Amino acid sequence: MDLSGRNFLKLLDYSKEEIRFLLDLSIKFKEKKQKGQPHNYLSGKNIVLLFEKTSTRTRCAFEVAGMDLGMGVTYLEPGSSQMGKKESIEDTARVLGRMYDGIEYRGFSQEVVETLGKYAGVPVWNGLTDEFHPTQMLADLMTIEEHFGYLKGINFVFMGDARNNVANSLMVACAKMGLNFTCVAPKSLWPKQELVDTCRSFAGGMITLTESVTEGTKNADVIYTDVWVSMGEDDSVWEERIKLLSPYQVNDEVMENAGENAIFLHCLPSFHDLKTTIGNEINEKFGLKEMEVTNDVFESNSSKVFDQAENRMHTIKAVIYATMRQSK
Ligand code: CP
Ligand code: NVA
Repeated sequence: MDLSGRNFLKLLDYSKEEIRFLLDLSIKFKEKKQKGQPHNYLSGKNIVLLFEKTSTRTRCAFEVAGMDLGMGVTYLEPGSSQMGKKESIEDTARVLGRMYDGIEYRGFSQEVVETLGKYAGVPVWNGLTDEFHPTQMLADLMTIEEHFGYLKGINFVFMGDARNNVANSLMVACAKMGLNFTCVAPKSLWPKQELVDTCRSFAGGMITLTESVTEGTKNADVIYTDVWVSMGEDDSVWEERIKLLSPYQVNDEVMENAGENAIFLHCLPSFHDLKTTIGNEINEKFGLKEMEVTNDVFESNSSKVFDQAENRMHTIKAVIYATMRQSK
């Protein structure tokens, strides 16, 4: 499998076999990391991480993965480059492409990352846009496979804002890899019909959309949720989102209704307690102590969220290596 020179902008651009290849490579990199075996295969190269939104996992995963592969890594924090304000995306892409061997971008519109990918002349990786978050899904698939031993036929349920970047990408990932995808959300927060139709056209499993928590989560192997309001959305949407999504909180009742050995996943960060500034503000305004998931579920044995977070690094390393190595 030769992915050298490819961008990684959304999973729709990748075949099932290519995703399989990236997962297998991630497993190998995880083994190497655990055994302490050096793998600085890309030494002498440099990458840049261009962030227009904040991050913990994605930034650190790219930094550690890049350094483990022997590379120099530059981090450009939100607002710190000329991009967009004084310099077009096309020009930024062409400049960075002359200096670096790979570019990661996190920001708003998918169009920006697609434009970077078109003009950079080096691999561009999407570290989250409003529409998609494809590196997250590789970690999610890896975690599910590590836990159950397989992917095809897994009953995967997403609860919450099912039109967001994470939900969109999960639906694509499940469809590609043959998991049954169920979206459990109020109708107004279902994914766009166009994306549902696209996914159904190649899905290896079922794609189901429902408003019913009881029906949707029955026999689930994986219950996944994400924040109710995503980065870039206006604070004014909280009130309506809380109203709409409170019945879709992942709690003990949901986990009990799911399959006996169901696991809980979340891309993180998560509002499951009052140990955050925003969590406290929401508590003061709306009286909620926890949001998309209860602290009990988050801290339970079914919760695999920190395995998932660790796997961001191994999977991102696989994407960087596969797309940057010299083709034979
Ligand atoms: N899951 C995820 O992308 O986390 P960060 O926002 O911390 O990168
Ligand atoms: N949907 C979330 C994901 C964060 C990793 C957001 O965009 O804020």
